[in-house]
Amino acid sequence: MGVVVPMEERRAPQASVRPLVELTAADMRRVNQLILSKTGSDVEMIPEVAKHLIDSGGKRLRPMLTLASAVMAGYSGDEHVTLAASVEFMHTATLLHDDVVDESDMRRGKQAARMVWGNQASVLVGDFLLGQAFRMMVDAGSMEALDVLSTASTVIAEGEVMQLSAAQSMETTEDDYMAVIRGKTAALFSAACEVGPILAQADKPTRDAFRYYGLNLGLAFQLVDDALDYGGSKAELGKNVGDDFHEGKITLPVLLAYRRGSEEERGFWRSAMEADASQNDAFDQAMHYLAAHDAISDTVARAQHYGERARDALAPQPESDVKQALLDVVDFCVARAS
Ligand code: IPE
Ligand code: IPE
Ligand code: MG
Ligand code: MG
Repeated sequence: MGVVVPMEERRAPQASVRPLVELTAADMRRVNQLILSKTGSDVEMIPEVAKHLIDSGGKRLRPMLTLASAVMAGYSGDEHVTLAASVEFMHTATLLHDDVVDESDMRRGKQAARMVWGNQASVLVGDFLLGQAFRMMVDAGSMEALDVLSTASTVIAEGEVMQLSAAQSMETTEDDYMAVIRGKTAALFSAACEVGPILAQADKPTRDAFRYYGLNLGLAFQLVDDALDYGGSKAELGKNVGDDFHEGKITLPVLLAYRRGSEEERGFWRSAMEADASQNDAFDQAMHYLAAHDAISDTVARAQHYGERARDALAPQPESDVKQALLDVVDFCVARAS
């Protein structure tokens, strides 16, 4: 516990994503053009809703991972751009759907699309984007990449549904929680990283290395996201903090505080998370218990562990600038504030 540096004391995590941003900048310009061109539709509401979310940016982490993995594995064609755009469309579709499921008000620093156009439009435009993502996978012409990405799409949905059933029960275990985040988040990171070496027709050990790198990076990313929901800043995150608590979503910080707490504290968590959490005015109390049991810092410590595993997965690969950028981005995922 003593080795964990509290989030606010970490230095400039942004610096650790910069090499990846710089190395993929030229290809990302092509990805962003493709993304914009694929939001087009004669049905006006589709580009309107899609652009609301896409124009607000987002970190574009997953498509950068696809581009970098392809280049690092020796790919020299153009289809990594197509697959990177496809990956970002899958992600964007998921966010549109997720904000409906979670009844979230804010996304990427703006009102969530559902607050402007309603839940129906968000779900349907999400479907459109997912459809476009699949068309781009086909355009890229690799059956293996299509297999990996389409499988990820089903696994993401499984993760989200699994979370629905686990959401309201304090009996959720850490393993249940890990299974949820492996599905809803890590599966896409993993696929985003594996399709690069697939395009490069890399051998199985190389493909496996990138897959495990992505999977573990995704686990670290979501663990930190769940820590930030109790300790981050709304301005930096572009979404409300405390949403998970008010929604009664049981994430690792809460699981740890529940298990480590007294019987009385467990009673607090049961009534806060299992009852109608939206009326919850006990956030300060929750924060107090989380701090008392190091629940947030230990969630970040778990993230560091998966970050190490991500680094170890890539370790045997030949040295290059791109490899170093992928190793550096682990620090960003573990220490990020946005
Ligand atoms: C948000 O992902 C969903 C999670 C997996 C936590 P990001 O934090 O990558 O979202 P954007 O694309 O940068 O907005
Ligand atoms: C992330 O889940 C969304 C998906 C990966 C499907 P969350 O619901 O935990 O993330 P935020 O907080 O809405 O970004
Ligand atoms: Mg959500
Ligand atoms: Mg969610």
